[in-house]
Amino acid sequence: MKAYKNLKLLFKKLAHLQYTQKVMMWDEAVVMPEGAGAYRASTVATLDGFIQKTLIKKRTQAWLKDAKAESSALHPWDLANLKWMEKKYQNAVCIPPSLTEKFTKTKIICEQAWRKLRPQNKWSDFLPYLEATFHCAREVAERQAQVLNLKPYDALLDEYAPGFTQASIDQIFSELKVALPPLITAIREKQKTESLLPPQGPFSVAKQKAIGLQVMKSLAFDFNCGRLDSSHHPFCNGIPKDIRITTRYSENEFITSLLGICHETGHALYEQGLPAKWLSQPVGAIHSMAMHESQSLLIEMQVCRSPAYFEFLQPLIQQEFGQGEALTADNLFRLITRVTPSLIRVDADEVTYPLHVIMRYEIEKGLFNGELKLAELPQVWDELMRQYLGISTQGNDKDGVMQDVHWPSGAFGYFPAYTLGRLIAAQFFETFTKMEPHFSREVQKGEFQTLVAWLRKHIHSSASFLSTAELLTLVTGRNLETQPFIQHIQKRYLDKN
Ligand code: CO
Repeated sequence: MKAYKNLKLLFKKLAHLQYTQKVMMWDEAVVMPEGAGAYRASTVATLDGFIQKTLIKKRTQAWLKDAKAESSALHPWDLANLKWMEKKYQNAVCIPPSLTEKFTKTKIICEQAWRKLRPQNKWSDFLPYLEATFHCAREVAERQAQVLNLKPYDALLDEYAPGFTQASIDQIFSELKVALPPLITAIREKQKTESLLPPQGPFSVAKQKAIGLQVMKSLAFDFNCGRLDSSHHPFCNGIPKDIRITTRYSENEFITSLLGICHETGHALYEQGLPAKWLSQPVGAIHSMAMHESQSLLIEMQVCRSPAYFEFLQPLIQQEFGQGEALTADNLFRLITRVTPSLIRVDADEVTYPLHVIMRYEIEKGLFNGELKLAELPQVWDELMRQYLGISTQGNDKDGVMQDVHWPSGAFGYFPAYTLGRLIAAQFFETFTKMEPHFSREVQKGEFQTLVAWLRKHIHSSASFLSTAELLTLVTGRNLETQPFIQHIQKRYLDKN
Protein backbone atom coordinates (compact mmCIF):
# COMPACT_ATOMS: atom_id res chain seq x y z
CA MET A 1 0.00 0.00 0.00
CA LYS A 2 2.99 2.29 0.40
CA ALA A 3 3.15 3.05 -3.33
CA TYR A 4 -0.52 4.02 -3.46
CA LYS A 5 -0.09 6.18 -0.34
CA ASN A 6 2.82 7.95 -2.01
CA LEU A 7 0.67 8.57 -5.06
CA LYS A 8 -2.13 10.02 -2.93
CA LEU A 9 0.29 12.39 -1.30
CA LEU A 10 1.71 13.40 -4.69
CA PHE A 11 -1.74 14.17 -6.11
CA LYS A 12 -2.65 16.14 -2.99
CA LYS A 13 0.39 18.35 -3.52
CA LEU A 14 -0.39 18.70 -7.24
CA ALA A 15 -3.95 19.77 -6.32
CA HIS A 16 -2.48 22.51 -4.12
CA LEU A 17 -0.37 23.77 -7.00
CA GLN A 18 -3.35 23.62 -9.36
CA TYR A 19 -5.40 25.64 -6.88
CA THR A 20 -2.71 28.33 -6.93
CA GLN A 21 -2.87 28.35 -10.71
CA LYS A 22 -6.69 28.63 -10.67
CA VAL A 23 -6.64 31.62 -8.34
CA MET A 24 -4.06 33.27 -10.60
CA MET A 25 -6.27 32.69 -13.65
CA TRP A 26 -9.37 33.98 -11.84
CA ASP A 27 -7.38 37.06 -10.91
CA GLU A 28 -6.21 37.44 -14.54
CA ALA A 29 -9.80 37.47 -15.79
CA VAL A 30 -11.38 39.56 -13.02
CA VAL A 31 -9.02 42.08 -11.42
CA MET A 32 -5.51 41.95 -12.91
CA PRO A 33 -4.29 45.24 -14.41
CA GLU A 34 -3.88 44.77 -18.15
CA GLY A 35 -0.20 45.67 -18.07
CA ALA A 36 0.59 42.49 -16.14
CA GLY A 37 -0.80 40.28 -18.93
CA ALA A 38 2.42 39.00 -20.49
CA TYR A 39 4.18 38.48 -17.15
CA ARG A 40 1.16 36.61 -15.79
CA ALA A 41 1.16 34.35 -18.84
CA SER A 42 4.83 33.46 -18.23
CA THR A 43 4.21 32.91 -14.54
CA VAL A 44 1.29 30.54 -15.04
CA ALA A 45 3.25 28.74 -17.77
CA THR A 46 6.15 28.19 -15.36
CA LEU A 47 3.76 26.82 -12.76
CA ASP A 48 2.13 24.53 -15.33
CA GLY A 49 5.52 23.20 -16.40
CA PHE A 50 6.49 22.65 -12.75
CA ILE A 51 3.25 20.74 -12.06
CA GLN A 52 3.89 18.52 -15.04
CA LYS A 53 7.54 17.86 -14.18
CA THR A 54 6.48 16.91 -10.66
CA LEU A 55 3.87 14.50 -12.00
CA ILE A 56 6.08 12.73 -14.56
CA LYS A 57 9.12 12.11 -12.36
CA LYS A 58 10.44 8.54 -12.72
CA ARG A 59 9.27 7.63 -9.22
CA THR A 60 5.61 8.16 -10.27
CA GLN A 61 5.91 5.42 -12.85
CA ALA A 62 7.42 3.06 -10.26
CA TRP A 63 4.69 3.87 -7.73
CA LEU A 64 1.98 3.25 -10.33
CA LYS A 65 3.51 -0.12 -11.17
CA ASP A 66 3.76 -1.17 -7.51
CA ALA A 67 0.29 0.18 -6.65
CA LYS A 68 -1.25 -1.76 -9.52
CA ALA A 69 0.46 -4.94 -8.35
CA GLU A 70 -1.26 -4.66 -4.97
CA SER A 71 -4.53 -3.19 -6.25
CA SER A 72 -6.66 -6.23 -5.36
CA ALA A 73 -6.61 -5.01 -1.76
CA LEU A 74 -7.94 -1.56 -2.71
CA HIS A 75 -11.43 -0.22 -2.01
CA PRO A 76 -13.40 0.43 -5.26
CA TRP A 77 -13.01 4.22 -4.87
CA ASP A 78 -9.25 3.83 -4.40
CA LEU A 79 -9.15 1.58 -7.41
CA ALA A 80 -10.96 4.21 -9.51
CA ASN A 81 -8.60 6.82 -8.07
CA LEU A 82 -5.60 4.76 -9.17
CA LYS A 83 -7.02 4.48 -12.69
CA TRP A 84 -7.41 8.26 -12.96
CA MET A 85 -3.88 8.74 -11.58
CA GLU A 86 -2.50 6.48 -14.27
CA LYS A 87 -4.49 8.25 -16.98
CA LYS A 88 -3.25 11.65 -15.84
CA TYR A 89 0.30 10.36 -15.77
CA GLN A 90 0.01 8.87 -19.27
CA ASN A 91 -1.52 12.03 -20.71
CA ALA A 92 1.30 14.11 -19.20
CA VAL A 93 4.36 11.93 -19.74
CA CYS A 94 4.01 12.07 -23.54
CA ILE A 95 4.26 15.89 -23.57
CA PRO A 96 7.62 17.62 -23.09
CA PRO A 97 7.28 20.15 -20.22
CA SER A 98 8.71 22.78 -22.57
CA LEU A 99 5.67 22.27 -24.85
CA THR A 100 3.30 22.53 -21.88
CA GLU A 101 4.88 25.84 -20.89
CA LYS A 102 4.82 27.13 -24.45
CA PHE A 103 1.15 26.15 -24.92
CA THR A 104 0.07 27.76 -21.65
CA LYS A 105 1.88 31.00 -22.37
CA THR A 106 0.72 31.10 -26.00
CA LYS A 107 -2.96 30.59 -25.17
CA ILE A 108 -3.05 33.16 -22.38
CA ILE A 109 -1.46 35.75 -24.68
CA CYS A 110 -3.88 34.71 -27.44
CA GLU A 111 -6.91 35.20 -25.19
CA GLN A 112 -5.60 38.61 -24.13
CA ALA A 113 -5.23 39.56 -27.82
CA TRP A 114 -8.76 38.25 -28.51
CA ARG A 115 -10.24 40.50 -25.81
CA LYS A 116 -8.71 43.47 -27.57
CA LEU A 117 -9.13 42.52 -31.26
CA ARG A 118 -12.63 41.04 -31.23
CA PRO A 119 -14.43 44.35 -30.56
CA GLN A 120 -12.35 45.86 -33.39
CA ASN A 121 -13.40 43.04 -35.77
CA LYS A 122 -9.73 42.47 -36.66
CA TRP A 123 -9.58 38.84 -37.76
CA SER A 124 -6.37 39.13 -39.78
CA ASP A 125 -4.52 40.70 -36.83
CA PHE A 126 -5.85 37.96 -34.58
CA LEU A 127 -5.08 35.03 -36.92
CA PRO A 128 -1.34 34.68 -36.05
CA TYR A 129 -2.18 34.40 -32.33
CA LEU A 130 -4.80 31.75 -33.06
CA GLU A 131 -2.43 29.88 -35.35
CA ALA A 132 0.22 29.71 -32.65
CA THR A 133 -2.34 28.39 -30.15
CA PHE A 134 -3.76 25.86 -32.59
CA HIS A 135 -0.29 24.50 -33.44
CA CYS A 136 0.42 23.82 -29.77
CA ALA A 137 -3.03 22.29 -29.23
CA ARG A 138 -2.57 20.03 -32.23
CA GLU A 139 0.86 18.87 -31.14
CA VAL A 140 -0.43 18.02 -27.67
CA ALA A 141 -3.45 16.21 -29.16
CA GLU A 142 -1.26 14.22 -31.57
CA ARG A 143 1.06 13.09 -28.79
CA GLN A 144 -1.81 12.07 -26.51
CA ALA A 145 -3.64 10.39 -29.39
CA GLN A 146 -0.66 8.05 -29.89
CA VAL A 147 -0.73 6.96 -26.26
CA LEU A 148 -4.52 6.58 -26.16
CA ASN A 149 -4.58 4.93 -29.60
CA LEU A 150 -7.13 7.46 -30.84
CA LYS A 151 -7.34 10.10 -33.55
CA PRO A 152 -6.05 13.51 -32.39
CA TYR A 153 -9.50 15.10 -32.23
CA ASP A 154 -10.82 12.07 -30.31
CA ALA A 155 -8.00 12.59 -27.81
CA LEU A 156 -9.31 16.12 -27.23
CA LEU A 157 -12.88 14.88 -26.86
CA ASP A 158 -11.59 12.34 -24.36
CA GLU A 159 -10.40 15.21 -22.18
CA TYR A 160 -13.70 17.14 -22.10
CA ALA A 161 -16.18 14.32 -22.61
CA PRO A 162 -14.48 11.00 -21.77
CA GLY A 163 -16.31 8.06 -23.26
CA PHE A 164 -17.40 10.01 -26.35
CA THR A 165 -15.72 9.90 -29.76
CA GLN A 166 -16.36 11.47 -33.15
CA ALA A 167 -18.28 8.31 -34.09
CA SER A 168 -20.67 8.49 -31.10
CA ILE A 169 -21.07 12.28 -31.31
CA ASP A 170 -21.72 12.13 -35.08
CA GLN A 171 -24.60 9.77 -34.34
CA ILE A 172 -26.08 11.96 -31.58
CA PHE A 173 -25.67 15.20 -33.53
CA SER A 174 -27.14 13.70 -36.70
CA GLU A 175 -30.32 12.94 -34.72
CA LEU A 176 -30.47 16.56 -33.59
CA LYS A 177 -29.82 17.83 -37.10
CA VAL A 178 -32.91 15.96 -38.24
CA ALA A 179 -35.13 16.76 -35.25
CA LEU A 180 -34.40 20.46 -34.65
CA PRO A 181 -35.12 22.30 -37.95
CA PRO A 182 -38.82 21.26 -38.15
CA LEU A 183 -39.22 22.08 -34.44
CA ILE A 184 -37.71 25.54 -34.97
CA THR A 185 -40.12 26.15 -37.87
CA ALA A 186 -43.17 24.99 -35.88
CA ILE A 187 -42.22 27.00 -32.79
CA ARG A 188 -41.57 30.18 -34.77
CA GLU A 189 -44.91 29.78 -36.50
CA LYS A 190 -46.65 29.43 -33.12
CA GLN A 191 -44.77 32.36 -31.59
CA LYS A 192 -45.66 34.71 -34.46
CA THR A 193 -48.95 35.58 -32.78
CA GLU A 194 -47.54 35.96 -29.25
CA SER A 195 -47.02 39.50 -28.07
CA LEU A 196 -43.80 40.46 -26.36
CA LEU A 197 -42.83 43.57 -24.41
CA PRO A 198 -39.09 44.26 -24.28
CA PRO A 199 -38.21 45.58 -20.78
CA GLN A 200 -36.89 49.16 -20.93
CA GLY A 201 -33.71 50.04 -19.03
CA PRO A 202 -31.55 51.32 -17.64
CA PHE A 203 -31.19 48.49 -15.13
CA SER A 204 -28.61 49.36 -12.50
CA VAL A 205 -25.79 46.87 -12.08
CA ALA A 206 -26.09 47.02 -8.28
CA LYS A 207 -29.74 45.97 -8.48
CA GLN A 208 -28.98 43.20 -10.98
CA LYS A 209 -26.32 41.93 -8.61
CA ALA A 210 -28.75 42.02 -5.67
CA ILE A 211 -31.20 39.81 -7.60
CA GLY A 212 -28.34 37.51 -8.66
CA LEU A 213 -27.19 37.03 -5.07
CA GLN A 214 -30.76 36.15 -4.00
CA VAL A 215 -30.95 33.60 -6.80
CA MET A 216 -27.67 32.01 -5.69
CA LYS A 217 -28.85 31.93 -2.08
CA SER A 218 -32.14 30.25 -2.97
CA LEU A 219 -30.21 27.57 -4.89
CA ALA A 220 -28.15 26.82 -1.74
CA PHE A 221 -24.87 28.25 -3.04
CA ASP A 222 -22.47 28.19 -0.08
CA PHE A 223 -21.11 31.75 0.21
CA ASN A 224 -18.72 30.65 2.92
CA CYS A 225 -16.86 28.72 0.19
CA GLY A 226 -17.51 30.84 -2.88
CA ARG A 227 -18.22 34.25 -4.38
CA LEU A 228 -19.73 36.18 -7.29
CA ASP A 229 -17.84 38.72 -9.46
CA SER A 230 -18.02 40.08 -12.98
CA SER A 231 -15.78 39.39 -15.98
CA HIS A 232 -15.53 39.67 -19.74
CA HIS A 233 -16.99 36.19 -20.25
CA PRO A 234 -18.95 34.42 -17.47
CA PHE A 235 -17.19 31.44 -15.91
CA CYS A 236 -16.91 29.24 -12.85
CA ASN A 237 -13.45 28.51 -11.51
CA GLY A 238 -11.92 27.12 -8.36
CA ILE A 239 -12.18 24.14 -6.04
CA PRO A 240 -15.02 22.97 -3.78
CA LYS A 241 -13.69 25.02 -0.85
CA ASP A 242 -13.32 28.18 -2.93
CA ILE A 243 -15.58 28.26 -5.96
CA ARG A 244 -15.85 31.54 -7.81
CA ILE A 245 -18.43 32.40 -10.42
CA THR A 246 -18.70 35.46 -12.64
CA THR A 247 -21.30 37.05 -14.84
CA ARG A 248 -21.36 40.13 -17.06
CA TYR A 249 -23.66 43.11 -16.77
CA SER A 250 -25.20 45.56 -19.20
CA GLU A 251 -27.42 48.41 -18.05
CA ASN A 252 -29.60 47.88 -21.14
CA GLU A 253 -31.02 44.58 -19.97
CA PHE A 254 -30.78 42.26 -16.98
CA ILE A 255 -31.67 38.81 -18.36
CA THR A 256 -28.15 37.97 -19.59
CA SER A 257 -26.51 38.59 -16.22
CA LEU A 258 -29.29 36.77 -14.41
CA LEU A 259 -29.29 33.62 -16.55
CA GLY A 260 -25.48 33.71 -16.52
CA ILE A 261 -25.64 33.54 -12.73
CA CYS A 262 -28.17 30.68 -12.84
CA HIS A 263 -25.88 28.76 -15.21
CA GLU A 264 -22.66 29.33 -13.25
CA THR A 265 -24.43 28.55 -9.96
CA GLY A 266 -25.29 25.15 -11.43
CA HIS A 267 -21.58 24.61 -12.08
CA ALA A 268 -20.71 25.76 -8.58
CA LEU A 269 -23.26 23.47 -6.91
CA TYR A 270 -21.60 20.49 -8.59
CA GLU A 271 -18.20 21.48 -7.18
CA GLN A 272 -19.65 22.24 -3.74
CA GLY A 273 -21.40 18.85 -3.74
CA LEU A 274 -18.26 16.78 -4.45
CA PRO A 275 -17.32 14.32 -1.67
CA ALA A 276 -15.20 16.16 0.94
CA LYS A 277 -13.34 12.97 1.79
CA TRP A 278 -11.81 12.85 -1.69
CA LEU A 279 -10.91 16.52 -2.04
CA SER A 280 -7.55 16.79 -3.91
CA GLN A 281 -7.73 13.24 -5.31
CA PRO A 282 -8.49 12.61 -9.01
CA VAL A 283 -11.50 10.39 -8.24
CA GLY A 284 -12.99 13.17 -6.10
CA ALA A 285 -12.86 15.76 -8.87
CA ILE A 286 -15.63 16.69 -11.30
CA HIS A 287 -16.06 13.92 -13.84
CA SER A 288 -15.78 15.91 -17.05
CA MET A 289 -16.80 19.16 -18.68
CA ALA A 290 -19.75 17.35 -20.28
CA MET A 291 -20.96 16.40 -16.80
CA HIS A 292 -20.13 19.89 -15.52
CA GLU A 293 -22.24 21.48 -18.27
CA SER A 294 -25.04 19.01 -17.53
CA GLN A 295 -25.21 20.44 -14.02
CA SER A 296 -25.13 24.10 -15.07
CA LEU A 297 -27.67 23.47 -17.85
CA LEU A 298 -29.98 21.45 -15.63
CA ILE A 299 -30.23 24.45 -13.32
CA GLU A 300 -30.31 27.10 -16.06
CA MET A 301 -32.40 25.46 -18.78
CA GLN A 302 -34.62 22.97 -17.00
CA VAL A 303 -35.26 24.93 -13.81
CA CYS A 304 -34.54 28.64 -14.27
CA ARG A 305 -36.00 29.01 -17.76
CA SER A 306 -39.32 27.47 -16.67
CA PRO A 307 -42.57 29.45 -16.23
CA ALA A 308 -42.66 28.45 -12.55
CA TYR A 309 -39.23 29.96 -11.95
CA PHE A 310 -40.33 33.31 -13.37
CA GLU A 311 -43.26 33.30 -10.97
CA PHE A 312 -40.72 33.03 -8.17
CA LEU A 313 -38.58 35.77 -9.75
CA GLN A 314 -41.34 38.27 -10.53
CA PRO A 315 -41.53 39.84 -7.03
CA LEU A 316 -37.70 39.94 -6.78
CA ILE A 317 -37.43 41.67 -10.14
CA GLN A 318 -40.32 44.05 -9.57
CA GLN A 319 -38.98 45.03 -6.16
CA GLU A 320 -35.77 46.25 -7.85
CA PHE A 321 -37.08 47.47 -11.21
CA GLY A 322 -40.73 48.43 -10.67
CA GLN A 323 -44.04 46.91 -11.66
CA GLY A 324 -44.05 47.38 -15.44
CA GLU A 325 -46.05 45.07 -17.70
CA ALA A 326 -42.79 44.00 -19.30
CA LEU A 327 -41.59 42.64 -15.96
CA THR A 328 -44.38 40.15 -15.33
CA ALA A 329 -43.54 36.44 -15.13
CA ASP A 330 -45.57 35.72 -18.28
CA ASN A 331 -43.85 38.33 -20.39
CA LEU A 332 -40.35 37.48 -19.15
CA PHE A 333 -40.92 33.78 -19.78
CA ARG A 334 -42.07 34.56 -23.35
CA LEU A 335 -39.01 36.74 -23.77
CA ILE A 336 -36.50 34.04 -22.76
CA THR A 337 -38.25 31.33 -24.76
CA ARG A 338 -38.50 33.35 -27.97
CA VAL A 339 -36.91 31.20 -30.69
CA THR A 340 -34.97 33.21 -33.27
CA PRO A 341 -31.92 32.15 -35.27
CA SER A 342 -29.19 34.52 -34.13
CA LEU A 343 -25.46 35.14 -34.50
CA ILE A 344 -24.21 34.74 -30.96
CA ARG A 345 -24.10 31.30 -29.33
CA VAL A 346 -24.14 32.49 -25.72
CA ASP A 347 -27.27 34.56 -26.36
CA ALA A 348 -29.04 31.85 -28.38
CA ASP A 349 -32.35 30.33 -27.31
CA GLU A 350 -32.26 26.71 -26.16
CA VAL A 351 -33.76 25.33 -29.38
CA THR A 352 -31.32 26.84 -31.89
CA TYR A 353 -28.37 26.55 -29.46
CA PRO A 354 -27.35 22.98 -30.40
CA LEU A 355 -26.94 24.05 -34.04
CA HIS A 356 -24.33 26.60 -32.95
CA VAL A 357 -22.46 23.79 -31.21
CA ILE A 358 -22.79 21.37 -34.11
CA MET A 359 -21.21 23.83 -36.58
CA ARG A 360 -18.29 24.46 -34.21
CA TYR A 361 -17.84 20.71 -33.81
CA GLU A 362 -17.77 20.25 -37.58
CA ILE A 363 -15.16 23.01 -37.93
CA GLU A 364 -12.99 21.50 -35.19
CA LYS A 365 -13.17 18.08 -36.82
CA GLY A 366 -12.11 19.68 -40.13
CA LEU A 367 -9.20 21.50 -38.48
CA PHE A 368 -7.84 18.46 -36.64
CA ASN A 369 -8.47 15.99 -39.45
CA GLY A 370 -6.52 18.25 -41.81
CA GLU A 371 -9.42 19.24 -44.07
CA LEU A 372 -9.61 22.89 -43.04
CA LYS A 373 -7.13 25.71 -42.46
CA LEU A 374 -7.60 28.45 -39.88
CA ALA A 375 -7.29 31.15 -42.54
CA GLU A 376 -10.41 29.76 -44.23
CA LEU A 377 -12.56 29.98 -41.11
CA PRO A 378 -14.41 33.28 -41.70
CA GLN A 379 -15.70 31.92 -45.01
CA VAL A 380 -16.49 28.46 -43.63
CA TRP A 381 -18.23 30.06 -40.66
CA ASP A 382 -20.41 32.15 -42.92
CA GLU A 383 -21.35 29.13 -45.02
CA LEU A 384 -22.29 27.01 -42.00
CA MET A 385 -24.25 29.84 -40.37
CA ARG A 386 -26.27 30.22 -43.54
CA GLN A 387 -26.78 26.47 -43.82
CA TYR A 388 -27.88 25.91 -40.21
CA LEU A 389 -29.42 29.20 -39.16
CA GLY A 390 -30.04 31.10 -42.38
CA ILE A 391 -27.93 34.13 -41.46
CA SER A 392 -24.66 35.51 -42.75
CA THR A 393 -21.57 36.72 -40.90
CA GLN A 394 -19.75 38.04 -43.93
CA GLY A 395 -17.52 40.95 -42.91
CA ASN A 396 -18.69 40.54 -39.30
CA ASP A 397 -16.05 38.25 -37.77
CA LYS A 398 -16.49 39.66 -34.28
CA ASP A 399 -19.97 38.12 -34.22
CA GLY A 400 -18.79 35.17 -36.30
CA VAL A 401 -15.62 33.17 -35.92
CA MET A 402 -14.17 35.53 -33.27
CA GLN A 403 -17.12 35.40 -30.89
CA ASP A 404 -16.07 32.58 -28.53
CA VAL A 405 -13.34 32.49 -25.91
CA HIS A 406 -12.73 28.75 -26.39
CA TRP A 407 -10.37 28.65 -29.37
CA PRO A 408 -8.34 31.70 -28.24
CA SER A 409 -7.90 29.99 -24.88
CA GLY A 410 -6.79 26.72 -26.50
CA ALA A 411 -9.94 24.78 -25.54
CA PHE A 412 -10.38 22.95 -28.86
CA GLY A 413 -12.74 20.01 -28.41
CA TYR A 414 -14.78 21.66 -25.65
CA PHE A 415 -17.93 22.67 -27.60
CA PRO A 416 -19.56 19.22 -27.88
CA ALA A 417 -19.60 19.16 -24.04
CA TYR A 418 -22.35 21.82 -24.07
CA THR A 419 -24.76 19.80 -26.15
CA LEU A 420 -23.85 16.47 -24.59
CA GLY A 421 -24.32 18.18 -21.21
CA ARG A 422 -27.66 19.59 -22.37
CA LEU A 423 -28.87 16.10 -23.34
CA ILE A 424 -27.59 14.61 -20.09
CA ALA A 425 -29.36 17.39 -18.15
CA ALA A 426 -32.68 16.67 -19.88
CA GLN A 427 -32.35 12.96 -19.17
CA PHE A 428 -31.49 13.45 -15.49
CA PHE A 429 -34.28 15.99 -15.07
CA GLU A 430 -36.82 13.69 -16.72
CA THR A 431 -35.97 11.02 -14.14
CA PHE A 432 -36.09 13.53 -11.27
CA THR A 433 -39.51 14.89 -12.26
CA LYS A 434 -40.93 11.37 -12.59
CA MET A 435 -40.06 10.93 -8.93
CA GLU A 436 -41.11 14.48 -7.98
CA PRO A 437 -44.04 15.26 -10.28
CA HIS A 438 -45.04 18.37 -8.30
CA PHE A 439 -41.59 19.93 -8.31
CA SER A 440 -42.74 23.00 -10.28
CA ARG A 441 -44.87 24.03 -7.27
CA GLU A 442 -41.67 24.14 -5.21
CA VAL A 443 -39.97 26.16 -7.95
CA GLN A 444 -42.78 28.74 -7.85
CA LYS A 445 -41.98 29.27 -4.17
CA GLY A 446 -38.22 29.37 -4.76
CA GLU A 447 -37.70 26.07 -2.93
CA PHE A 448 -34.96 23.94 -4.40
CA GLN A 449 -33.97 21.71 -1.46
CA THR A 450 -35.53 18.57 -2.97
CA LEU A 451 -33.69 19.05 -6.25
CA VAL A 452 -30.34 20.00 -4.74
CA ALA A 453 -30.50 17.05 -2.32
CA TRP A 454 -31.28 14.70 -5.25
CA LEU A 455 -28.41 16.09 -7.33
CA ARG A 456 -26.04 15.76 -4.36
CA LYS A 457 -27.05 12.19 -3.65
CA HIS A 458 -27.18 10.83 -7.19
CA ILE A 459 -24.74 12.93 -9.21
CA HIS A 460 -22.43 15.28 -7.33
CA SER A 461 -21.33 12.73 -4.73
CA SER A 462 -20.35 10.31 -7.50
CA ALA A 463 -17.56 12.69 -8.62
CA SER A 464 -15.31 10.72 -10.99
CA PHE A 465 -16.13 7.29 -9.57
CA LEU A 466 -18.36 6.22 -12.46
CA SER A 467 -18.16 6.90 -16.19
CA THR A 468 -20.84 9.06 -17.83
CA ALA A 469 -22.52 5.98 -19.31
CA GLU A 470 -22.42 4.15 -15.95
CA LEU A 471 -23.82 7.11 -14.04
CA LEU A 472 -26.58 7.76 -16.60
CA THR A 473 -27.57 4.11 -16.56
CA LEU A 474 -27.53 3.98 -12.77
CA VAL A 475 -29.64 7.13 -12.37
CA THR A 476 -31.94 7.02 -15.42
CA GLY A 477 -31.86 3.34 -16.39
CA ARG A 478 -30.33 3.95 -19.84
CA ASN A 479 -27.38 5.39 -21.72
CA LEU A 480 -27.53 8.82 -23.35
CA GLU A 481 -30.50 9.53 -25.64
CA THR A 482 -31.69 12.63 -27.50
CA GLN A 483 -35.36 11.92 -26.80
CA PRO A 484 -35.70 13.50 -23.31
CA PHE A 485 -34.33 16.78 -24.69
CA ILE A 486 -36.59 16.70 -27.77
CA GLN A 487 -39.62 15.92 -25.60
CA HIS A 488 -38.73 18.76 -23.26
CA ILE A 489 -38.64 21.17 -26.22
CA GLN A 490 -41.97 19.88 -27.55
CA LYS A 491 -43.55 20.25 -24.13
CA ARG A 492 -42.19 23.70 -23.27
CA TYR A 493 -42.59 25.27 -26.71
CA LEU A 494 -45.43 23.41 -28.39
CA ASP A 495 -47.48 22.35 -25.34
CA LYS A 496 -47.08 18.71 -26.33
CA ASN A 497 -47.03 16.06 -23.62
CO1 CO B 1 -21.05 26.30 -18.54
